[in-house]
Amino acid sequence: MSQFERVLTKSWAKPGNRSFAGYKANGGYDALPMALKMQPSEIIDTVKASNLRGRGGAGFPTGMKWSFVPKDSPKPKYLCINADESEPGTFKDRLIIEQEPHSLMEGIAIASYALGVHTCYIYIRGEYLEQAEILEKAIAECYEAGIFGKSVLGSGWALDVYVHRGAGAYICGEETALLNSLEGKKGWPRLKPPFPAVVGLFGSPTVVNNVETINTVPTIIKMGAEKYAALGTPKSGGTRLVCVSGHVNKPGVYEIPMTLTFDELIHGKEWCGGIPGGRKVKAVIPGGSSAPVLHHTELDVAAEYEALKAKDNMAGSGAVVVMDDSTCMVRALWRISKFYAEESCGQCTPCREGTPWMERILRKIEEGQGEHKDLALLKSVVNAIAPYPPIGLGTTICALGDAAALPVHSFVDKFREEFEQHINEHRCPFPHPFGILAD
Ligand code: NAI
Ligand code: SF4
Repeated sequence: MSQFERVLTKSWAKPGNRSFAGYKANGGYDALPMALKMQPSEIIDTVKASNLRGRGGAGFPTGMKWSFVPKDSPKPKYLCINADESEPGTFKDRLIIEQEPHSLMEGIAIASYALGVHTCYIYIRGEYLEQAEILEKAIAECYEAGIFGKSVLGSGWALDVYVHRGAGAYICGEETALLNSLEGKKGWPRLKPPFPAVVGLFGSPTVVNNVETINTVPTIIKMGAEKYAALGTPKSGGTRLVCVSGHVNKPGVYEIPMTLTFDELIHGKEWCGGIPGGRKVKAVIPGGSSAPVLHHTELDVAAEYEALKAKDNMAGSGAVVVMDDSTCMVRALWRISKFYAEESCGQCTPCREGTPWMERILRKIEEGQGEHKDLALLKSVVNAIAPYPPIGLGTTICALGDAAALPVHSFVDKFREEFEQHINEHRCPFPHPFGILAD
């Protein structure tokens, strides 16, 4: 893996990279004039051919999403950048904004031109105050440099870009809840279809793309679709960012080749460098807390969309959470379930009622009050939200229901003996230095 060439993060540590001048000095803003010489449809075809997949979590092919936007719509079209990065364990978009905000700006300008968009909103989670300020500064620099404004680089193409701060609701990262929130409405997900590409913001065609997705577009234009696609696998072009947290020696954001396995990522010297204290891995969450957990015997799988899908799993938002053998799986699952119970918007019954129910059953087991029938009850509640496998059988309006269900299915199926041990011993067998249910 030492031959691996980073294409997204290669300038991250360079001084001044956050500023317009620094980014330009490091080769930035070369792609935009190239794109402006292309036809918009050529850019869409290039992104299609690059095999770029959405990096927010679902991995939907980006070029295909762009091609769904009706070309002859009389309504204005919008681009919304989803910077509401709230999936537990996910922090790559924050790093992109902090390290290289102008790459995102350049991607916005190229995507807007390709999609026929004159207005772009960056929806950023409220907790990212410093990052929102970085974006505002980068936008101001872009207006000054003629990247945004009445005529993008003198092309006659007008583009305005705004930052909109969320108010702390996880659900507003769901694309249709995000659109409702932007419209000033309650952040409730909408039924799909229609998809936002056709009926989105203010009823107009809208592309909602994640920060990393749009940040990658200048690299694709510069490298060419073929070269970018060749960095990845046949169905997942390029490289991707993962954010590793938990029990590893070197947590952080890594740009990785699509073929890198979780084993290599966790133990490789050039990556996370193994587990502290020489302990062993017990389990890994491969793509944010919404993804099914991997047992330590399942880590020889590439951290990539198709490889994980083949295992009834998902690459998700790139959040890799590593848990060593000191981790209580009941407590870890209880904590995840508590999160979903708090963040459910309450719009549909299985999710509104089921998520707190799951949390209560798990709390009972962790506190040593569990009974064997609770495991069957837990399974019946979770099956009412989303049976598994495969992924995608959910009964709810949005993916939060599935996201709450998948960890419960996988933790209980793969670590059942630990749940039974809690029930049999009427206690949690792991130490709790801060109290049994402390956050
Ligand atoms: P989805 O599969 O419904 O859609 C993915 C994208 O493709 C959307 O933009 C959708 O509009 C578009 N799309 C799909 N089919 C389409 C069609 N026929 N026509 C036009 N557009 C179409 O998934 P969703 O609900 O958008 O995302 C779920 C994922 O989000 C989860 O898998 C999870 O990993 C991730 N997630 C990420 C978070 C983060 O902080 N980054 C937070 C929470 C969840
Ligand atoms: Fe709201 Fe949950 Fe239904 Fe999504 S699944 S719309 S979060 S109640």
